[in-house]
Amino acid sequence: MNVSDLVLERSNTIPDFPKPGIVFRDLTPVFADAEAFTAVIDDLAARFAGRFDAVAGVEARGFLLAAALAYASHVPLVAVRKGGKLPGVVISEDYALEYGSATLEIKPGQVAAGSRILILDDVLATGGSCSAAARLVERAGYAVAGMGLVLELQGLGGRERLADYDLYAIVAEP
Ligand code: HPA
Repeated sequence: MNVSDLVLERSNTIPDFPKPGIVFRDLTPVFADAEAFTAVIDDLAARFAGRFDAVAGVEARGFLLAAALAYASHVPLVAVRKGGKLPGVVISEDYALEYGSATLEIKPGQVAAGSRILILDDVLATGGSCSAAARLVERAGYAVAGMGLVLELQGLGGRERLADYDLYAIVAEP
C-alpha cells in the first residue's frame, strides 16, 4: 500500500471533538502502526531531501514527526512549544486555532544561524499554528525550508494562508 492509502486507512474521524460542530481527524492510529508511521517519515524525508538543515516540531503531535525525522535525517531538532513551557529567553507568537487561541514559543540560538528549518505538524487546518511557527523560525534568524504535514484539511484556508511556503501534505482531504 502506498503512504497516502496507509494514512487514510489508519486514521479516524470523530464528530463533535473537541467541541460540537468540529469533525476531528485523529492520526494517533497512524502513529500506532509501525508500517504507516515508517512510511510517513520516509515520505517526508524523501520529499524534502537535501533542502533542510534542521527540523522544528510543533507541540504536541509535531514532536512525534520531528523526532523521527531528525533521527532519520541526522539533523538537529527545535521544539516549538506551547506558551509558558520553555525556560529562559523565548520568542512568542499568538495565533488563532480552529477551536480557540494559543501561543507558541521557541528558544532562539539553538541551531546554527541561517539554518533551513523544516516545520512539521500532523494536521493542517486553518494554518494558524504553522504560520506562527514560521514567524518564530524567521524571527529567530532561520529560513523556513518548508512545511511537512500528514493530513491537509482543505477548505479551511490553511494552504492559502501559507502560500509563501513550500507546503507538502501526504494526504489532502476536501
Ligand atoms: N484533527 C487534528 N488536529 C486538528 C484538526 C483535526 O481535525 N483540526 C485542527 N487541528
